[in-house]
Amino acid sequence: MVKDSSFGKLYRLLAGDLRPQLGKLVLVTLLGSVVAFGEKAPMLLIVPLFSRVLFSAPAGDAQQHNPAMAAVLELFDRVLAQVAPWVSSDATGNGGEQGKLAVLATVAVLMFLLTALNALAQFVLTLLSRWVALRVVVDLRQRLARHIIGLSMRYHGERQFGDVLSRISSDVNQTLNSVNLTLKDLVQQPLQLVGALVVAAIVAPLPTLVVLVALPLVIAPIAKLGRRVRKRSTKSLASLGASLEVLTQMFTGIRTVKAFRAEERELGRYREVNEKYLGAAMKMVRAVATIEAATTLFSHLGFALVLVVAGWATLEFSIFTSAGEMATFFAGIGMIYTHVKRITTAVNHVQESAGAADRLSAILDERQDIVEHASARAVHSLGRGIEFERVGFTYPAQALPALSGVSLHVRPGETLALVGPSGAGKTTMIDLLARFIDVSQGRITVDGHDLRELKLDDWTHMYAMVGQVPFLFHATVRENILYGKPSASPAEIEAAARAAHIHEFIQSLPQGYETIVGDQGARLSGGQRQRITIARAVLKNAPLLLLDEATSALDSESEAEVQRALDGLMRERTVIVIAHRLSTIRNADRIVVLDRGAIVEVGRHEELLALGGHYARLHAMQFRAAAAAAQ
Ligand SMILES: Nc1ncnc2c1ncn2[C@@H]1O[C@H](COP(=O)(O)OP(=O)(O)O)[C@@H](O)[C@H]1O
Ligand SMILES: [Mg+2]
Repeated sequence: MVKDSSFGKLYRLLAGDLRPQLGKLVLVTLLGSVVAFGEKAPMLLIVPLFSRVLFSAPAGDAQQHNPAMAAVLELFDRVLAQVAPWVSSDATGNGGEQGKLAVLATVAVLMFLLTALNALAQFVLTLLSRWVALRVVVDLRQRLARHIIGLSMRYHGERQFGDVLSRISSDVNQTLNSVNLTLKDLVQQPLQLVGALVVAAIVAPLPTLVVLVALPLVIAPIAKLGRRVRKRSTKSLASLGASLEVLTQMFTGIRTVKAFRAEERELGRYREVNEKYLGAAMKMVRAVATIEAATTLFSHLGFALVLVVAGWATLEFSIFTSAGEMATFFAGIGMIYTHVKRITTAVNHVQESAGAADRLSAILDERQDIVEHASARAVHSLGRGIEFERVGFTYPAQALPALSGVSLHVRPGETLALVGPSGAGKTTMIDLLARFIDVSQGRITVDGHDLRELKLDDWTHMYAMVGQVPFLFHATVRENILYGKPSASPAEIEAAARAAHIHEFIQSLPQGYETIVGDQGARLSGGQRQRITIARAVLKNAPLLLLDEATSALDSESEAEVQRALDGLMRERTVIVIAHRLSTIRNADRIVVLDRGAIVEVGRHEELLALGGHYARLHAMQFRAAAAAAQ
């Protein structure tokens, strides 16, 4: 039912992480049983204490019509005969006050020892169950991150960072709560409920049976309400994700926000999504509150009913032989309702997190589209070059293809410039080569072999890429350059930095190569950052170089410096360069002109100019100013 599907979801999500913890889970259940038993066992001392020690015993056990209770009394008598023979020999209650006090003290000590043992078991139980829950959740986080990072740019292109963040942080936390509750309350409480039932059944079997039959009447309506909680939890989690997204945007775009004095506007947007979250969360809270109120109502109603029926039965048929029995029975029944309440609360919390489990399962169900086949072949050179064969690519949820029918041979060692208006598909071509995405139609081959049949590691080693926005990790300059070849020696790093014309600058930094640079690279200019990413590419020393407008975001002075760094890098390699700079394009062996996802012209600069087509128009528009400035 409802319960099953919530726990089912949770289980499906965590099955892989739970399996290694099986031994510990069994231990948790065992400890839970010990604690449950330890908490309930002392209750069984009430009746013998009442009838043997505190009050006058009934006129013999012949009157005891309940075999289980009789057995407990007999056991007590036997133990008593061992521990305090003077009392049992005087069990009629005539005198022996001194002895009775001693028995009382013995029972108290016993109870204390039992409780101490219980407390120890509880301590270990909490420690162990929390550890298992944390372990499982940490493993889940790692598994999610691994899965997400493995997804292609097809996924990352349309996914929002805040959404991913909220899933890995708050959805996983919700799951942690669920696992904690399941291991703690949902292991212990049902056991304790059974313990209380056993106690009540020993004292008064028939009335307990009646209560047991009536119990589902309390639980059924509560379970029905649970479904609502689940639906609402999914909604409230989604709006939490949306609010994180706004926050992420606000701080990644902090310079823009400040430049436009848009702080209040952004905070307003944040408030708006937060209010939406509050609304969605309150809807869920209302469902939870209803359930809790209903549980209280039904359980107390049930208890009142038991009180009336059992009281009436006692008056009419004297089903209880002593006050002690009756007191124990009611204590047991009272506990049963307390445990039912705890169980429903815990189940509710698990329902609340079912939405989170759903959202996480959705991530894990996302297909890994860039995969390496078992039979993938090694690749160590470009051989006869790269061939685009009628390549087409359409982004998900996009009506028009970004590329269609693109056929092109990239010769080894040549420098190929890609030009075309923005949105023509230049970056898509580079991304396909880098296997950030895979073709929708046609194929790309390297030395005659389909790119998709090559070992991913091998192919990634074949190219170095420098993009438009230089990204530096929040780490030292050295670590940032090392990204290109983790095994490089300090001398190799320095040589790469020299080749990228950035060595002198790095040395002028306060800690040289050990200076920390941020992901936003606040301490470095765009040109300096770009030259560090070029040093990275130099260090990688791959035969294929992919350059996507590496200088377009720079001022002309840094552009010249970066260009010098690039010129060195481009020598003696196969280069595919998306450029807006006339000199780069002029020096290219061939120019490929793209327009609306198709190749429209291929040739050298002069040839294409003479053609008077796309390139000539593009040149007239884009390069006239640059050409004039260069004269
Ligand atoms: N992640 C993406 N999701 C959907 N459409 C995209 C994505 N990236 C690019 N496009 C679309 O694909 C087309 C080609 O884009 P792109 O290759 O980036 O062009 P260029 O680099 O030539 O400016 C454009 O119409 C663009 O809107
Ligand atoms: Mg582009």
